[in-house]
Amino acid sequence: MKIVVIGGSGLIGSKLVTKLREHGHDAVAASPNSGVNTLTGEGLAEVLKGASVVVDVSNSPSFEDAAVMEFFQTSTRNLLTYEAAAGVGHHVALSIVGSDRLPDSGYLRAKIVQEKLIKESSIPYSIVRATQFFEFVMRIADSATDGDTVRLPPVRFQPIAADDVASAVCKVAMGSPLNGIVEIAGPEQFRFDELIRLGLSGRKDPREVIADPHARYFGTELSERSLVPGDDAQLGETRFEDWLSRSASQIPPTNPQPIAVAAASNGASGPQRK
Ligand SMILES: NC(=O)c1ccc[n+]([C@@H]2O[C@H](COP(=O)([O-])OP(=O)(O)OC[C@H]3O[C@@H](n4cnc5c(N)ncnc54)[C@H](OP(=O)(O)O)[C@@H]3O)[C@@H](O)[C@H]2O)c1
Repeated sequence: MKIVVIGGSGLIGSKLVTKLREHGHDAVAASPNSGVNTLTGEGLAEVLKGASVVVDVSNSPSFEDAAVMEFFQTSTRNLLTYEAAAGVGHHVALSIVGSDRLPDSGYLRAKIVQEKLIKESSIPYSIVRATQFFEFVMRIADSATDGDTVRLPPVRFQPIAADDVASAVCKVAMGSPLNGIVEIAGPEQFRFDELIRLGLSGRKDPREVIADPHARYFGTELSERSLVPGDDAQLGETRFEDWLSRSASQIPPTNPQPIAVAAASNGASGPQRK
């Protein structure tokens, strides 16, 4: 099958394209880098010619409320219009567990609008809602940082490896349209603050993580089960600590001081690292 992956150069998209090709499909990565822009419609008619399935794993370059709404609304509308004209038989999109429970988050409001447009379109569809990716942990920490402190609510948290997300989306894309939603998550539950603390210490990041029930997560307060899936969720295989030890060995520690700067500010003569 010809399967077009919108956002095929991204974190999930690039893994997905590889997996679909391994299964023998003609997977085409489409994004602005390859001349396909869902916001403007550029390149869509050409890339969708002969496609049976479209998987949308694109993301907004900006997470600012208005920009993210504009991105998911306009790009989803364009995509569905061009798909209908091309006779695409299955639209698959990646969304987020709990999107419908957190209306104070501008990002999640935009994901709900994306889901609604898909449900209302004439094209058979599958929506895969994933929990937060392991790879997203540092961005979460950064957004919750004030000085050297990270504040997060100690609610349940069940993140998943991007590799497991790509495998689950691959399976859905190769199957029949669900005309519904499936949830996917990692194999273990943590407390939100506990997981971020583990992630930071795995990278030797000195920030302190404080459990604060009222700390906001991308603009929204969370309750105990806001971010975790229902009982029917499909679970990935990768454990966070295994992923962390593999990935931490490939990433330099966060914010290392350049050796020359560290030496100068310490008044030291030899090379030093903070
Ligand atoms: N982060 C999480 O924890 C999480 C959890 C659940 C679900 N999700 C969802 O997963 C999806 C994929 O996330 P990701 O982290 O893999 O994204 P990502 O790595 O940021 O990749 C974004 C992709 O979108 C493409 N893109 C940007 N603007 C575009 C446009 N105008 N037209 C077409 N493509 C465009 C980019 O193309 P270029 O490279 O050419 O710019 C890139 O391929 C998102 O929809 C997100 O909501 C994320």
